[in-house]
Amino acid sequence: MQGILFLKLILISLFLILPSSLSLGIGETCSNSSSNSCDAGLTCGTCPANGNTRPRCTRIQPISPASKVKGLAFNRYSWLTTHNSYALSGSTSATGSVILAPTNQEDTVTNQLKNGVRGLMLDMYDFNNDIWLCHSFGGKCYNVTAFQPAINVLKEIQVFLEENPSEIVTIFIEDYVSSPQGLTKVFNASGLNKYWFPVSQMPKSGQDWPTVDDMVQQNQRLVVFTSIASKEASEGIAYQWRYVVENQYGDDGMLPGSCPRRSESSPLNTKSISLFLENFFPTNPNYTEACADNSAPLLNITQTCYEAAGNRWPNFIAVDFYQKSDGGGAPQAVDKANGQLTCGCDSIAYCKANATFGTCDVPVLSPPPPAQLSPTNTGTSQVPINNSRTSQHVQLHWLVGTILCVILLLSL
Ligand SMILES: *[C@@H]1O[C@H](CO)[C@@H](O)[C@H](O)[C@H]1NC(C)=O
Ligand SMILES: *[C@@H]1O[C@H](CO)[C@@H](O)[C@H](O)[C@H]1NC(C)=O
Ligand SMILES: *[C@@H]1O[C@H](CO)[C@@H](O)[C@H](O)[C@H]1NC(C)=O
Ligand SMILES: *[C@@H]1O[C@H](CO)[C@@H](O)[C@H](O)[C@H]1NC(C)=O
Ligand SMILES: *[C@@H]1O[C@H](CO)[C@@H](O)[C@H](O)[C@H]1NC(C)=O
Ligand SMILES: *[C@@H]1O[C@H](CO)[C@@H](O)[C@H](O)[C@H]1NC(C)=O
Ligand SMILES: *[C@@H]1O[C@H](CO)[C@@H](O)[C@H](O)[C@H]1NC(C)=O
Repeated sequence: MQGILFLKLILISLFLILPSSLSLGIGETCSNSSSNSCDAGLTCGTCPANGNTRPRCTRIQPISPASKVKGLAFNRYSWLTTHNSYALSGSTSATGSVILAPTNQEDTVTNQLKNGVRGLMLDMYDFNNDIWLCHSFGGKCYNVTAFQPAINVLKEIQVFLEENPSEIVTIFIEDYVSSPQGLTKVFNASGLNKYWFPVSQMPKSGQDWPTVDDMVQQNQRLVVFTSIASKEASEGIAYQWRYVVENQYGDDGMLPGSCPRRSESSPLNTKSISLFLENFFPTNPNYTEACADNSAPLLNITQTCYEAAGNRWPNFIAVDFYQKSDGGGAPQAVDKANGQLTCGCDSIAYCKANATFGTCDVPVLSPPPPAQLSPTNTGTSQVPINNSRTSQHVQLHWLVGTILCVILLLSL
């Protein structure tokens, strides 16, 4: 009897202590130590570039759109896209040389795919008798700008498609390859050609694409575009500018309130082209500024571009350092585009099953805690700021704990 009572007391104590180790939702104050206390799909970060010095949980994953609203045409969804996906910070060239080129991302393509990135922008060059992922000086690849052979990254994509049989990946190749059948050979060697979505099935006059279900069923889950027109006929690789419109990239594409087209692209409101890629990254990638860029300005330009494109939401949103933001970031922008595309809501999270377009389930949120770190609250503090989710969890735990105590006392 005594033993059981003791056990019960221990269990209750444990239960009352538990809330301090709960995981944290978006915007909540976190410790920036290596152990990630934030919920899945979030990471702990700050954004000093826009005054957000309080470490808070920030999003690094969009909602998987086709798992929330199923079965639509491929062009009825929006996909998170990384600019220069291969240009990984801190990497050395596979030639052994140091890299003197700018970098655009902080994790590998494998990790990007794991986080829900579904569009990859890759620059490919003839180099060292092979095809390499490279930045260039004057259209040429050098040891100090060469990241690695393309086959390595293509194999990462192949492994992902193999392990995730209902996922679709799109590759945008900035193509500097002139060796005969160069791209075909490297795609063949990577094992990716078995997933190839054929050019012949791409809509040519603004129709819908096949549904994602069709693409999955046919196992045509890799969509590839090249920037060289002749390769559509010679290698069956779709010429990007027949199928995709894009706004201007770099600094000229980041001016608030404007969304000009990229020079290679048809006007953004061209109805005969079914896909729209939105670029939003500076001319010189900037790690410390990326968190600010990927926050309110990204959401703002997405709205501007929607209007510039004739009321059309982007199918791809391409950024540098996609994990950086002050809260929702690029994943939130993608969720917004998906909400608007699939159910007429401001986030795909608000879509209701089988509801009419524009009927939304918008959660009531308490206002977020202040952006700045308060003077008394140092960076490593774990004290939760008054925040609906945490306090609700804590209250729930105390309530259940109290009920258990009463039951225990009554049973004595
Ligand atoms: C995390 O904390 C360390 C020291 O505790 C600090 O040097 C670093 O800048 C912090 N990082 C962020 C993103 O706040
Ligand atoms: C580039 O790297 C290769 C090794 O992959 C080396 O053989 C070559 O000498 C290097 N070229 C220059 C210009 O450093
Ligand atoms: C690529 O693979 C296809 C089918 O497996 C084959 O028909 C073609 O000859 C290969 N092309 C090259 C250039 O290796
Ligand atoms: C976006 O930025 C423009 C220009 O700075 C501003 O006028 C507009 O109010 C912003 N729109 C939103 C939705 O924040
Ligand atoms: C990034 O932007 C900041 C602020 O605009 C600037 O001070 C810094 O030099 C930039 N860094 C790079 C690598 O361009
Ligand atoms: C939505 O409709 C589908 C097909 O008509 C049905 O199978 C599903 O149960 C419905 N879901 C809800 C939540 O009503
Ligand atoms: C804490 O949040 C609750 C609702 O979530 C609110 O009623 C209360 O005023 C807040 N307290 C402080 C000190 O902000």
